[in-house]
Amino acid sequence: MSRLRAAILGATGIVGQKYLRILSRHPEFEVSALFASSHSGGKNLNEASNFMLPDDIAEFGEIRVEEASDRILERNDIDLIFSALPSSMGGLEEILSRKFPVITKSSSHRLDPDVPLIIPEVNPGHLLLIEEQKKGRKKGFISADPNCSTTQLAIPLKALEPFGIETVIVSTMQALSGAGYPGVSALDASGNVIPYIEGEEKKIEKESLKILGKIGTGVEITPSDLNITAKCARVPVPDGHMENVFVRFCSSPEIDDVRDALIKFRGPRKVQHLYSSPEHPVIFIDSPDRPQPRLDLMKGEGMSVVVGSLRKSGGFYCFTSLSHNIIRGAAGGGVQHAELLLSEGYL
Ligand SMILES: NC(=O)c1ccc[n+]([C@@H]2O[C@H](COP(=O)([O-])OP(=O)(O)OC[C@H]3O[C@@H](n4cnc5c(N)ncnc54)[C@H](OP(=O)(O)O)[C@@H]3O)[C@@H](O)[C@H]2O)c1
Repeated sequence: MSRLRAAILGATGIVGQKYLRILSRHPEFEVSALFASSHSGGKNLNEASNFMLPDDIAEFGEIRVEEASDRILERNDIDLIFSALPSSMGGLEEILSRKFPVITKSSSHRLDPDVPLIIPEVNPGHLLLIEEQKKGRKKGFISADPNCSTTQLAIPLKALEPFGIETVIVSTMQALSGAGYPGVSALDASGNVIPYIEGEEKKIEKESLKILGKIGTGVEITPSDLNITAKCARVPVPDGHMENVFVRFCSSPEIDDVRDALIKFRGPRKVQHLYSSPEHPVIFIDSPDRPQPRLDLMKGEGMSVVVGSLRKSGGFYCFTSLSHNIIRGAAGGGVQHAELLLSEGYL
C-alpha cells in the first residue's frame, strides 16, 4: 500500500518537528509539505527554525517551508493534515477541513460539539462525530487531540472507570517545552516554579469530561458527570509533565485492585494493534518515589503514561503520572490518532 501524503502545519515548531521525526519512519504516512508562518515561508526548514530538537530530521532540512494559508486548498499532493498551529489559527483549520482531514493539536476546535476529541485507547467510538461534519462538507473533517496534560490524566482514569469515579483533583507540574518555543523566558523559569498556565486548568477540566463522556445514538457526546478540579504549574524540567492525581470512587476498592486495574489496562483490541500504540498504555511502577522525568520519560518510546506512588488516604486514592508531552501528549498521540482514522476507514 502506498503511504498517505501528510502536510505538517507548524512544521518549524516543537510539535511540528516531532511530527517530522515520527513520520520519517512511518509505514502508513509520509511528509509531503511543510507549512508555518509568513516569517518562515520561502525558507528551508534549517533556515526557518530558530530552535531545532535534538532529533535527527536532517532529511527535511533542505525542504522549503511554505506560508500556511487557504491556498493549501488548491493542493492535490496532500491526503491529510497534521496541524500544530497556535489556537489562534483555528479559522484556517476550519477552511482546510472542507477538503482535507485535519488532525489538530491546537485547542481551537476541541470542544466543538461535532469534533471528536480522541485518545485512541480511551474513546475511539467518538470518531462517529465525523459523520455529523461530513453532512455539511464535501470531503474533509477536523478531529482533535486533547491538551497534553489532559491525555495523561484521562488514560489512567479510563483504567479506573470500572470503580465508578466520583471526584478527581489534579495538580500538575508541567515541563517547559509544553509552552512551545521560545516559551517561558529563562529568567522566569530557572530555579523557579510558576503556579499558573493560562487557560490550562479549564482545558483539563472540560476536555476530560468530554473524552470520558458517552456518545449516544443521536450523534452527540454526553459529558461525564464526575467532579474535576485542576491546578497547574510550570516547572523547570525540559520535557515530561507530572501530575499528582487524587481520585474518590463511588465504591471502595482495595488498593491492590486499583493497582491491578492500572497494570492490566490495554484499551480496545482494535487500538492495541495500531503501529504507534504502546504495549502498555499505562506502565505502573510500584515505588513511592517514581515516576521521575529523568528516569521514566521514554518508557513505551514516550507513548506510555507512567504511573506510581499509589496510596490511599482520607477517602482518596492518590497517584503520580508522568507523560512525554511532545510524544504521547502531542505528535505521537496525533500520529496514533491518524492510524486509528485510517484503520476505521476515515482516511
Ligand atoms: N508543546 C507541547 O507540549 C504541546 C502539547 C500539546 C499541544 N500543543 C499545541 O500544539 C501547537 C504547537 O505547539 P508548539 O509547542 O509546537 O509551538 P511552537 O514551538 O511555538 O510552534 C508554533 C508553530 O506554529 C507556527 N505559527 C505560528 N503563528 C503562525 C501563523 N500565524 N500562521 C502559520 N503558522 C504559524 C510557527 O511558525 P513560525 O516558526 O514560522 O513562527 C511554528 O511552526 C499549539 O497549539 C500548542 O498549544 C503543544
